[in-house]
Amino acid sequence: MTTAETSSKPWNSIDALANAVRSCTACGLHSTRTNSVPGSGSSKAEIFIIGEGPGFNEDQQGLPFVGRSGKLLDELLTAIPMTREEVFITNVVKCRPPDNRDPLPDEVAACRTYLEHQMELLDPKVVVTLGRVSMLRFHPKGKISQDHGKILEWGGRILFPLYHPAAGLRNPTIKRELQKDVLKLPEALRQANRVSPKKATAK
Ligand code: URA
Ligand code: SF4
Repeated sequence: MTTAETSSKPWNSIDALANAVRSCTACGLHSTRTNSVPGSGSSKAEIFIIGEGPGFNEDQQGLPFVGRSGKLLDELLTAIPMTREEVFITNVVKCRPPDNRDPLPDEVAACRTYLEHQMELLDPKVVVTLGRVSMLRFHPKGKISQDHGKILEWGGRILFPLYHPAAGLRNPTIKRELQKDVLKLPEALRQANRVSPKKATAK
């Protein structure tokens, strides 16, 4: 399934793509951003974590998940145990939507090429989506309340939807679900090796 996205590859590295994102003006969000937020982490990451869009702190620093949601994300990773340096973290849209509103469909569409090429360049085994907006990008019929914590297959990879950490900060029940779900991530990685064993040695 991902092969449909591999026909053109305008950027030959994650860094080259990040530079394009930093100067991008392809949608209206460029006019209100302080910094765009291409993503951060290991270019050899097996786990690709996708949030919704930068918030205030991310826009200020140009880095993903550096505010309170990011702190919870770090705590969740620590439980596996893993660090953010071992994964790659990005967002569906790379510039902050004003007042943290949901990104509009035309903004998601304009930014789509960056997410697709990051996926192609990193070739991760497991795609972790955080929250509804990110999950719908890969699993349009999904329901976050039902599908969070499920190990699903998507285009030769494992798709592992989680609640958004910001939802966990607002709701203790959701936070507990997040803490429980994240413990399945090592199993998701093991299943990824069964779905596509060649990825285990492809890097
Ligand atoms: N929420 C997101 O979806 N992404 C971030 O980078 C920070 C908060
Ligand atoms: Fe470009 Fe994406 Fe930022 Fe829009 S959100 S300006 S498409 S990088």
